[in-house]
Amino acid sequence: MKFSKKLTYWYLQNKRNLPWRETKNPYFIWLSEIMLQQTRVAQGLAYYLKFTEAFPTVFDLAKAHESIVLKMWQGLGYYSRARNLHFSAKHIVNELNGEFPTTFLEIIKLKGIGDYTASAIASICFNEPTAVVDGNVYRVLSRYFGISTPINSTAGIKEFKKIAQSLIDKSQPGMYNQAIMDFGALHCKPQNPLCDSCPFTNSCVAFEKNLVKKLPIKEKKIKIRKRYFNFLVIKTADNKTILSKRKGKGIWQGLYEFPLIESEQIINKNELISTEKFTDLFPNETTILLHNKKEIVHKLSHQHLYTQFWIIETKSLENTTISWENIQDFPVPVLISNFLEEFQSKN
Ligand code: ADE
Repeated sequence: MKFSKKLTYWYLQNKRNLPWRETKNPYFIWLSEIMLQQTRVAQGLAYYLKFTEAFPTVFDLAKAHESIVLKMWQGLGYYSRARNLHFSAKHIVNELNGEFPTTFLEIIKLKGIGDYTASAIASICFNEPTAVVDGNVYRVLSRYFGISTPINSTAGIKEFKKIAQSLIDKSQPGMYNQAIMDFGALHCKPQNPLCDSCPFTNSCVAFEKNLVKKLPIKEKKIKIRKRYFNFLVIKTADNKTILSKRKGKGIWQGLYEFPLIESEQIINKNELISTEKFTDLFPNETTILLHNKKEIVHKLSHQHLYTQFWIIETKSLENTTISWENIQDFPVPVLISNFLEEFQSKN
C-alpha cells in the first residue's frame, strides 16, 4: 500500500479531536498553526479557545490594542508571533478587504508566515497540495527513509521538503499533512516510538537498520548566552511603582517590566546601589531587600536569565508610572508574572 494511503488509514483511527479540525476557516487555522509553533498541543489548546473567544474574527483581532493581544498571549512565549499576527490581521482588514489570501504564494507574503504555516493553511483550507515540514515530519521521514542529512542544515531543509512534497496525497492534502504530523507526535515519537505496533515496520529503514534512536540528526546547538538581571521592584509610600515598556529588537519587545539593571554576574546589595542607574533612580533614602535569596534562572531558547528581584521601599517618586492596584492590567513576561503572583500573595 502507498505511504500516504497507509498514513491516512492510521490517521482515521488515531487522530486527535481538536477544535480547529472542525473548521476550514483560514482565520482559525492560521491562529492555531501560529500558536502551535514551539508549543505543545495541550498548552496551545487553552490559548486557542481563549483567543478565538476574545477575537472571533480577523476584524476583532485587527481592532484590538496591541497590549490586549500580548496580554492574551502571555505565557506562550515567542511574542513576535503575537505581534506579527496582529500586524497581519490589520493588513488583511485594511489592504485585503478582510479576505484571507487563498493560495500558498499569497499566504506566504503575510508577515509572520513562513513555508510551514503557508503550506498548512493552503492545504487545510484551500486543498492546495503543499507539504508541511515540521519537527514531526522531519522525524518520520528521516526514520522511514533512513536519511541522515542534518534536519537543520540548508541541504537537509531542501531535501526533506522535496520528499515531503513527493509523498503528499493530492486529493486530500490537508488531511495528509495533519496525518503525518499526528503520526509523528503520537506514534513515531522522539523517545520511545511505538515501533511494535507501527504500520510501517516492514518498510522503515531506521527500524530495519536499528537507527531509530539515532535519527533524525541535528547539527550542533548554538551557544546559550548567560545574562544577569536585577529587577527593581519599587514600592512607594503612596503605593506606586514603575513599569516600563521594553523597546528595541531584543526579548520581550512591547511587554512591561520593572526597572532593570543588567550586570556581568550575580551582584550583592552594595554593588547594586553603586550602579549609576540606581543612584539616578533613587536620590533619596531607600530600604532594599533581596526577594529571592537564590537567583531565579529563566530559560529562553538562546539565553538563560539569572534573575534577582530587589524590593525597594522609598518615599514618593516623581517618575512612578503606575499604582500597584493596576499592575495586573499590563502584559508582562512570565518571569515577572510568576514573581508578582508569589509576591502579591504574601504582601
Ligand atoms: N502541529 C501543528 N499543527 C498541527 C496540525 N494541524 N495537526 C497536527 N499537528 C500539528
